[in-house]
Amino acid sequence: MSEPIPALPCYLNGEISTVRDAKVSVLDRGFIFGDGVYEVIPVYDGVMLRGREHFERLQRSMDEIRLENPHAVDEWLGLVDKLLAHHPGNQSVYIQVTRGVPTKRDHALPKGLTPTVFMMCYPLASPSREQVENGVACVTARDFRWEKCHIKSTSLLGNVLARQLSADVGATETILLRDGFLTEASASNVFVVKDGVVAAPPRDNLILLGITYDLLVRLAAEGTVKLEIRPIPEAELRAADEVWLTSSTKEVLAVTQLDGKPVGDGRPGAVFRRMHALYQEHKAGLRSRAVAA
Ligand SMILES: Cc1ncc(COP(=O)(O)O)c(C=O)c1O
Repeated sequence: MSEPIPALPCYLNGEISTVRDAKVSVLDRGFIFGDGVYEVIPVYDGVMLRGREHFERLQRSMDEIRLENPHAVDEWLGLVDKLLAHHPGNQSVYIQVTRGVPTKRDHALPKGLTPTVFMMCYPLASPSREQVENGVACVTARDFRWEKCHIKSTSLLGNVLARQLSADVGATETILLRDGFLTEASASNVFVVKDGVVAAPPRDNLILLGITYDLLVRLAAEGTVKLEIRPIPEAELRAADEVWLTSSTKEVLAVTQLDGKPVGDGRPGAVFRRMHALYQEHKAGLRSRAVAA
């Protein structure tokens, strides 16, 4: 039996209601074609972590799919604050913009449509202490997605099917390899560590450039952790001392088992612990930085 839809707060085309009540047309191109883009922003104690950067990435995704952005970044930030007004604490904000509702189904882009703007928020599920302290298991798979993975598109069937491969065996993520090189995971970026040096795959069209990826690169530089951005061959992933996942909700998590084998000594490594501490410090300073701004 399916559970009732929760009364989570949402915003749809200017109206605040709940996800139980909000309704979208069946002709919406998001529903028919997956023709839309999205963002997920973590909010700690009412303050967005890198909200501006998320909306800048939304703009880049919209530019890539030739969708006109109905709002400037500051307007978006204001809309999120409005949605969050009665929902304090730690929240995830989901934002989706689709191309809107045409009068007929046709692949080619219709002119003059008003985009459908949808947002909802729900309690943020941060990684558990157990996950942080023991790490998580992942599996690998061939990256069978398309060549525009840099667009944060709602067309997620490739990612959904990739994620299910790990869900099927009770693992946290599916780490993807394309032509013998690491790309990312189904809903996270991936970093590897060897001999104390961190490596991350290039910022190209084969990965979604994570806001957390960028934050980690910055925190590593500030914390004098050595980090290189370059192609990572499969052999390097498999021989790594440490492997990490990053995303706005996973933060940074150590992968301690890959395809059933231990990564390094099978425990979260020293570089992970340093990076995790730098990330938590950054989060802890969010509110004071917001007040000072
Ligand atoms: C495919 C993919 N890569 C990477 C990420 C990490 O992005 P971010 O750090 O902006 O959450 C996500 C997040 O959902 C993702 O779906």
